[in-house]
Amino acid sequence: MRALVLAHALAFALASTAAVTPSRAQQGADPLPAGDGHDLVAVACSQCHYLGTIAKIRDGAPGWRRYVDNMVLRGAQLTKPEIETVVAYLARNLGPGMNLPPAKPVALPDGPGKDLIAERCTLCHNLERVVAVKRERKAWPVIVADMVAQGAPVTTEEAKTIFDYLTANFGD
Ligand code: HEC
Ligand code: HEC
Repeated sequence: MRALVLAHALAFALASTAAVTPSRAQQGADPLPAGDGHDLVAVACSQCHYLGTIAKIRDGAPGWRRYVDNMVLRGAQLTKPEIETVVAYLARNLGPGMNLPPAKPVALPDGPGKDLIAERCTLCHNLERVVAVKRERKAWPVIVADMVAQGAPVTTEEAKTIFDYLTANFGD
């Protein structure tokens, strides 16, 4: 009898929680692709910033794990198994080149390296991120090496073509 009352109380508590959970519409447009793990990310990762902060980034599983570990240090509420679900969701849906939002067209000046950049440097972010600002000439080789370390698929020779182009056209 007691157990039954308790079960009733529990069912009532669960129903009330569901009733106060805000609807999708109240939370604004959801920028994250649907899929396993989506709902967990949508709740756990929206406590401190917009989900758009996440939706604009592309990275592989090791990179996403670093972001998520960092967010857990900051206070994101996730158990160990939930961390695995979140990392798997992010790597599966927001890996390099996946589900990229339409980007504003950026006109690159002609020259060797232009096509390589348009193809390889848009896998994780758009071209605006690359050429929005001019940078010190000596900064470009460092940035390109950093992108290769992040996972940009370019050979050593292609990297040189790319930073020569960027230094010539977007160097200060
Ligand atoms: C307790 C607060 C908190 C929660 C919860 C949280 N974040 Fe963050 N997040 C931050 C803060 C603060 C920043 C901005 C500081 C920074 O850029 O390092 C940030 C920035 C980010 C960035 C942008 C980093 C960049 O370089 O632009 C990503 C990606 C991110 N969070 C992913 C996540 C994911 C995925 C989750 C869910 C697992 C999450 N966050 C949950 C606090 C949080
Ligand atoms: C595997 C994913 C990936 C690819 C491919 C990639 N990038 Fe990036 N890029 C990132 C990430 C993540 C950031 C933001 C974190 C950072 O600044 O290290 C970034 C940031 C940048 C920035 C801004 C850096 C700053 O300090 O403001 C520039 C410029 C850039 N990338 C250029 C390039 C170029 C050029 C290429 C092609 C050779 C490229 N990226 C390819 C992941 C990538």
